[in-house]
Amino acid sequence: MSSDTTPRTFHVKSFGCQMNVYDGERMAELLAAQGMTAVDEREAADLVVLNTCHIREKATEKVYSDIGRLRREDGSNPLIAVAGCVAQAEGEEIMTRAPQVRVVVGPQAYHRLPDMVAAAASGTRETETDMPAEAKFAALPQRRKSGPSAFLTIQEGCDKFCTYCVVPYTRGAEISRPYADLVEEARLLVEGGAREITLLGQNVNAWHGEDDKGRTIGLAGLAAELARLPDLARIRYTTSHPADMDDALIEAHGTNDKLMPFLHLPVQSGNDRVLKAMNRSHSAESYLKIIERVRAARPDIALSGDFIVGFPGETEAEFADTLALIDATRYAQAFSFKYSPRPGTPAATMDDQIAAEIMDDRLKRLQTAITRDQLAFNRASVGKRCQVLIERRGRQPGQWLGKSPWLQSVHFTDEAAIGDLVEVELIEAGPNSIAGRRIDSTPGA
Ligand code: 5AD
Ligand code: SF4
Repeated sequence: MSSDTTPRTFHVKSFGCQMNVYDGERMAELLAAQGMTAVDEREAADLVVLNTCHIREKATEKVYSDIGRLRREDGSNPLIAVAGCVAQAEGEEIMTRAPQVRVVVGPQAYHRLPDMVAAAASGTRETETDMPAEAKFAALPQRRKSGPSAFLTIQEGCDKFCTYCVVPYTRGAEISRPYADLVEEARLLVEGGAREITLLGQNVNAWHGEDDKGRTIGLAGLAAELARLPDLARIRYTTSHPADMDDALIEAHGTNDKLMPFLHLPVQSGNDRVLKAMNRSHSAESYLKIIERVRAARPDIALSGDFIVGFPGETEAEFADTLALIDATRYAQAFSFKYSPRPGTPAATMDDQIAAEIMDDRLKRLQTAITRDQLAFNRASVGKRCQVLIERRGRQPGQWLGKSPWLQSVHFTDEAAIGDLVEVELIEAGPNSIAGRRIDSTPGA
């Protein structure tokens, strides 16, 4: 493509969290609405959007190497747009260091992507990193098609300022999208084929709004309204903060049949001194109390969490408290990370940064504990009968992959189709997946 032609094909590559996946889908819809065609191969694309993540590790370096790899055999480049959190945090530097990048657009401004691409196609370089998120959603096109499991961002940003985390700086202050917009977007997703919707937000359970009767409601109220959509079978939400786990939401896990028995509730550490230094507003005990109450509301709930090992100053005894919290909670799954200093965050300049070998060792021990509990959870599911929402074909002929209510990956071989909710008996468990057998007799039911 020469520099003065409008791109006809595009490829969006999203890194990082599910919110970035949602943003990537919306950017693709925006570009398609301009008449551009999505292509799977980035080599074939006139426009490549790198939708970046800044949460951990050498994110910026990775973006530069990705940009370098976009160069074609003849030495030319596609029109390159850098979006997402690295764009927000380091946009100016990217423009200086990578002259082949023509568009830098932050996560709250990507509704402007088509205009920026059009301008860049005629030779300019465009940067937009303004923060107000409300304008973005209003400017996006209507949703039309969806896979069986859809994401819906209901809340963005974070006001919690955990001392290790870059999100409050890249995604801005907490905002909740309006109730009516969300009900409408969910309706369109279901009309377009979604049977399951996962509500997304950096602090999804901080969402609040006003319903159509003018009452102030939280996430439980929104989930109750969405549950009234007849063809929507499942509702999930992520990521939650312990401080926003209100009574109504805990209770909803026992009363809203469509709310799936799964809760991702990051704790980060099991030690109160570390939690305080992280500026988490909960203690290990208050976290465990929430877990106890959620389990009382929904005894079979699958629990998930996030952990950081090697936060500055973390001692072996403090790390042992995290292992003890894991033992007490018995997670069904969890994500764990080595602490990574993020430029501009308070923890990055704290004393006592932990050596890499210590972090490696702690991460290994933590992951051993999680894998043990994950396998135990999966093994305890064997013999259960549940519905599986089919998402895609498996690798074996005739095999299908889908999710159980507890978010386990289930595979089975039988007649079925993508989007079906089928009744399955779980027969054999591994740490990462479960084999099932279809037990209902009406394919497509
Ligand atoms: N270092 C390591 N892990 C981090 N996370 C966020 N910031 C950092 C960091 N600086 C992890 C937290 C969070 C998850 C999304 O990423 O566990 O919950
Ligand atoms: Fe980051 Fe903490 Fe906000 Fe989560 S709650 S996005 S970890 S600052």
